Amino acid sequence: MEYSRHEHESAEDYAARLLGMLQERDARDALREQEVEPGAEEQTAEATTDPGQSAESGLLDAEAVLVAQSAEKQNPMVLELLKGLQKCAVYTDTPNHETNRKLWDAYAQSWSSNVDWVQRMSGHVSRQAEELQFLGDEWSDIESLDAVLSYWLYPHLQDGSLTVAEVGSGGGRIAAKVAPKVQRLVCFDVSEGMLARAKSRIVGELGQKHVDFQLISGDAAYPQKYNCSFDFVYSFDVFVHMDLHQMRQSLLCMHSILRPSGLCFVSFANLLAPDGWRRFAKQQHYSVGGFYFVSPDIVRCLLRRTGFSLVSISKSEQGNIYLNRDILVIARKA
Ligand SMILES: C[S@@+](CC[C@H](N)C(=O)[O-])C[C@H]1O[C@@H](n2cnc3c(N)ncnc32)[C@H](O)[C@@H]1O
Repeated sequence: MEYSRHEHESAEDYAARLLGMLQERDARDALREQEVEPGAEEQTAEATTDPGQSAESGLLDAEAVLVAQSAEKQNPMVLELLKGLQKCAVYTDTPNHETNRKLWDAYAQSWSSNVDWVQRMSGHVSRQAEELQFLGDEWSDIESLDAVLSYWLYPHLQDGSLTVAEVGSGGGRIAAKVAPKVQRLVCFDVSEGMLARAKSRIVGELGQKHVDFQLISGDAAYPQKYNCSFDFVYSFDVFVHMDLHQMRQSLLCMHSILRPSGLCFVSFANLLAPDGWRRFAKQQHYSVGGFYFVSPDIVRCLLRRTGFSLVSISKSEQGNIYLNRDILVIARKA
């Protein structure tokens, strides 16, 4: 399928064509699933119909739609000029944190439970459109997320007395659950739009006034006032969107804000997990909406080199979107 924009196509036509193609593809996939012979899905990893299998295309689709929508807002002459420049000029890549900031700002700005691309994403994870309440509900089924948080996060929050940080808090999907369990929570994010969403939900709607929101640049140290001030730091579903250099930078920042011997919880996309490989093999190249894949060895190396010692590491588990795709770790500030 041809996802790229045609030479003389307007951005508006491009966004409409893209959505049409994605709808056709979904219809074809649904038909193909019905045609699968009984038992065939057990034969290979590629043939499984696990929730994670279809979740993988959701964010890539959303990314394509958001890119097309943002092109729509630009001056066509400037876009033409850029296209011309791209043919002759040598560019260095845009830093990962900048692409993340732009994509997630666009995501936060366009998100609504009744927007077409959000409902398509929720369909990929078997969630009914009516169930969508908050930004991020479309990323997973309820059971997968609850299982991960119950095992990997809540047990580390102890008796409610801890000072905790979330790196990449997004619209507050997890922070909203963590806030009532801690003394103080600070949400760090590179996207102002996401922080505004999280604040409106957590402080505005839930009245959790002990939660703060901190915009960070992604390429520099976090504000010094946070140094050594947190008992526990977590970053879930965020490192999957970072390249390796950004992962190292973010781990160094997490290390600096943790108190000595403090723990962190982080998730990474795993090339060696069944859904990790499947998703990787479907992508043409790395993009923020697509994932950046690592392996347990790389995770171990990154943690060691940024001053952490590994406490525990997850094993792949079918049926759970995250455990069948990611590596989850608990690590201690050495
Ligand atoms: C998929 S959302 C996950 C949000 C939240 N952790 C959750 O699971 O609901 C990814 C979030 O990470 C943020 N992010 C991306 N790169 C980041 C970085 N280098 N530092 C901090 N946040 C980042 C994005 O802006 C976005 O809000």
